[in-house]
Amino acid sequence: MEATNLFYRDPALYDAIQSDSGSAEMCQALIERHRPDAKTLMDFGCGTGRDLEILAKRFECVGVDLQAGMVDYAHRARPGLDIRIGDMRTVRLRRRMDTVTCLGNSLAYVHDTDDITRVFATFAAHARPGGLLVLCSPVSPVIRPEPTSAVVDTPDGPARVTISYGWDLRTQINTMHRHWVLASGKEAQDEIRRRVLFPRELEGYASAAGFEIVEVVGESRNGLTGPTGYTVAQHVR
Ligand SMILES: C[S@@+](CC[C@H](N)C(=O)[O-])C[C@H]1O[C@@H](n2cnc3c(N)ncnc32)[C@H](O)[C@@H]1O
Repeated sequence: MEATNLFYRDPALYDAIQSDSGSAEMCQALIERHRPDAKTLMDFGCGTGRDLEILAKRFECVGVDLQAGMVDYAHRARPGLDIRIGDMRTVRLRRRMDTVTCLGNSLAYVHDTDDITRVFATFAAHARPGGLLVLCSPVSPVIRPEPTSAVVDTPDGPARVTISYGWDLRTQINTMHRHWVLASGKEAQDEIRRRVLFPRELEGYASAAGFEIVEVVGESRNGLTGPTGYTVAQHVR
């Protein structure tokens, strides 16, 4: 995968900026609600392992990510975690877990419909019967008429980022363009392309792979209001 995303070129920066996302805590709360007896977890698209580090306090965890750079960084930053290089479209680790997760929008980086079907087959191949699937993914596009700017804290000091979005309804790709002015004064651009899967589509992929949806919530936990959804499904066959 070409590292067009600044964070993939600099995983430490990714970790610093995403550190308070709350995604692992939300995921754990959903697992406790639907499968409190879960002991094992496999996270696909685990990136730097930031969520896995939190989840590993509660579950026996394995993480998988496509990018060697992210996995190398994860091994150095979090040497206690079991994180492997693998492509979630094809990887088979020959283990079935109580819970399979795909957090932080990782599913949205798979754009092709047949590839998405393959990813769900991977989820099914690693979930035991009755096991849970927890996804955090974009369920509607972010559409903003004007760019927005913000200052974010980075390990090197404050950076200014200006973000604009594009939305292609035909392909359901939501593009985020970011222009960074880093603390050093250097500028950087990146472009992130995410495939939006609306809730009914997600349900279709999940049920074709043998999962039944048990809950869909937004980040605020009060139904689906924003662009990001947590989908929880149970492996029924
Ligand atoms: C936005 S990051 C999220 C990482 C992590 N889940 C988090 O929340 O911090 C998306 C991750 O998905 C990974 N990814 C994309 N396509 C993948 C694939 N086909 N198989 C495995 N990982 C993939 C990328 O390498 C990247 O680390």
